[in-house]
Amino acid sequence: DGLNTRAVAAGKKYFGTEISTYVMSDSAANEIAKNSEDFGQYTCENEMKFDALEPSQNTFKYDGADQIVAQAEANGQIMRCHNLVWHSQVPSWVSNGGFDNATLIEIMQNHIANVVGHYKGKCYAWDVVNEALNEDGTYRSSDSVWGRTIGPAFIPMAFAAAAEADPDAKLYYNDYNCDKPGAKATGALGLVKMVQEYGAPIHGFGMQGHMTVGQVGDASQYVENMQAFTALGIDVAYTELDISTSSNDFEQQATDYATIVSACQQVEACVGITTWGFTDKYTWINNGAPLMWDQSLQKKPAYDAILNGWGSS
Ligand code: G3I
Repeated sequence: DGLNTRAVAAGKKYFGTEISTYVMSDSAANEIAKNSEDFGQYTCENEMKFDALEPSQNTFKYDGADQIVAQAEANGQIMRCHNLVWHSQVPSWVSNGGFDNATLIEIMQNHIANVVGHYKGKCYAWDVVNEALNEDGTYRSSDSVWGRTIGPAFIPMAFAAAAEADPDAKLYYNDYNCDKPGAKATGALGLVKMVQEYGAPIHGFGMQGHMTVGQVGDASQYVENMQAFTALGIDVAYTELDISTSSNDFEQQATDYATIVSACQQVEACVGITTWGFTDKYTWINNGAPLMWDQSLQKKPAYDAILNGWGSS
C-alpha cells in the first residue's frame, strides 16, 4: 500500500511526483520514484520546458524528457506534461528575438505542434499555459514575451494548438498562489472563462500548491476554491505541492499535507495530487525541507499523514 494506491482506492486518478534526470541518476532516490505504489504519475521538473526542448529555432531536443517518459512507461506510470507556454525558461532566441506579433504566434504554434505531436498519446495532461497572471489577477504582460507581444490572446491560441496536436490530452492552465479564494484565483477563473468563450478546449486548472507550514489552515477554503473552478465544468489538480518549514516542524507539516489531501478528497473533480519532488535531498527550496522523504531518503511524518488523509475509503 502506498501514496498512489491509496489515492486510487479513494477514487482519484493518481498520486504523483515531479522528477528530473538528475534525480534518476541517483539510484537510491530513483528506486523510490520507480515504485508505482507510491507514484502513479510523473511531471518533468525542467526537461519539457521551452528552453530544454527547442534550444534553437526549430531544433528539438527530446532526449532528457524521453528518458523520463520511458521510465514512466516501464513502471506503468502516467505523465502530466509541463509545460508549453511560460514566461520563464524561454530560450534567448525567443525572448531576445524581437519578433512581431504574427511571427511570435507562429513560433508558439510551431513549438506546440512539434512537442505535443512528439508526445501524442503519452501525456495524460498538458500544462498548456503556466503562470500567465499577476498577483492581483490581471494578465502578466511586461515580464512575459508572450503577453507583451501577443497579449492575452496567446492563451486561447495555445489551447487550440494543443488540442489540435493531441485531441485526447487533458489541457490545463497551471498557476501558483491560486489555492485559496482571492484576487489571483478570481483572475484564473476569468482566464478559464476566456478560453471557453474563445471556443478552445480547456479541461483543468492546476493549483501548483507551493505552501508554507503553519499557513495552510483548514480544508474548507481549499474546497471552496476548487468548487468555483469545477463549477465551470473542468477538473482541478494539485500539480506542484510542497509545504516548506524553516524550523523542521515535521508534525505540523504532516498535518498540513493531510489537510490538502482531505480537501482534494472532498471534491470529486479533484483528479489527483503531484508533489514537486519527493525527497528533501532534491528540491527547488533551500532550507525548507518541504517533502515526504528526508535528505537521507527516510520517510518523514508527512508520508503517513498523506496515506491516512484520504480517510477510510
Ligand atoms: O540548465 C542550466 C545550466 O546550463 C546552468 O549551468 C545552471 C546554472 O545556474 O542553470 C541551469 O538551469 C537551471 C534549471 O533549473 C535547470 O537546472 C536554472 O538556473 C534554474 O533557475 C532552474 O530552476 C527551475 C525553476 O523552475 C525555473 O524557474 C527549478 O529547477 C524548477 O524546480 C522550477 O519549477 C517551477 C515550475 O516549473 C513552475 N512552478 C514553480 C516551480 C518552482 O519554481
